[in-house]
Amino acid sequence: MQRERPALVSVFVFLCSVNIIAITQRPCSRDLYVQVESLKEKVSNISKKLSLNCSLYTPTMEDYEICPRTTMQCFASEIIVLTHEWELEPKWKKLNRLLSRLASRINQTASKCRRCEVMKEENATTFLENLLWTVKKSNSDYC
Ligand SMILES: *[C@@H]1O[C@H](CO)[C@@H](O)[C@H](O)[C@H]1NC(C)=O
Ligand SMILES: *[C@@H]1O[C@H](CO)[C@@H](O)[C@H](O)[C@H]1NC(C)=O
Ligand SMILES: *[C@@H]1O[C@H](CO)[C@@H](O)[C@H](O)[C@H]1NC(C)=O
Ligand SMILES: *[C@@H]1O[C@H](CO)[C@@H](O)[C@H](O)[C@H]1NC(C)=O
Repeated sequence: MQRERPALVSVFVFLCSVNIIAITQRPCSRDLYVQVESLKEKVSNISKKLSLNCSLYTPTMEDYEICPRTTMQCFASEIIVLTHEWELEPKWKKLNRLLSRLASRINQTASKCRRCEVMKEENATTFLENLLWTVKKSNSDYC
């Protein structure tokens, strides 16, 4: 029994490193979807206690289809606004890094993309619903 453990550990390490390599090559993150869902739940929990009227620039499905990278970048920067306005714990800011990294791996052919600042301002709930949809679409495209 004792002799088997190191072998198992090395198999585990090997599988992990293969997994990490796969993640760094593709704009795919299943973990991201779970985290956005959890942020949406957090925001919904907070809204039950206090009403916050803050709006966020919100890309649409069409934006993602035409300009996937620019759209992901917009979501990433608005996540920072969301965490500030809602005074969320710093851990939620890592979503910004995950989204930025995902954005940097997406190839985009369109040359004219709408700037984040011209997108419609929506409440946090609508913003997170659109983000969830976008991450789901991105995972179905690339995972
Ligand atoms: C939201 O509230 C429910 C019920 O109080 C709790 O179980 C859940 O963990 C909360 N979710 C988050 C993300 O804080
Ligand atoms: C919320 O903000 C929007 C736009 O900033 C404004 O039109 C609306 O009147 C505000 N609602 C409340 C309840 O403050
Ligand atoms: C993006 O383009 C590069 C170079 O053409 C290619 O190697 C890579 O696989 C592409 N990535 C995606 C996600 O399509
Ligand atoms: C957020 O905006 C959507 C669409 O504009 C609206 O239907 C919804 O009631 C709003 N939710 C909150 C919590 O204000």
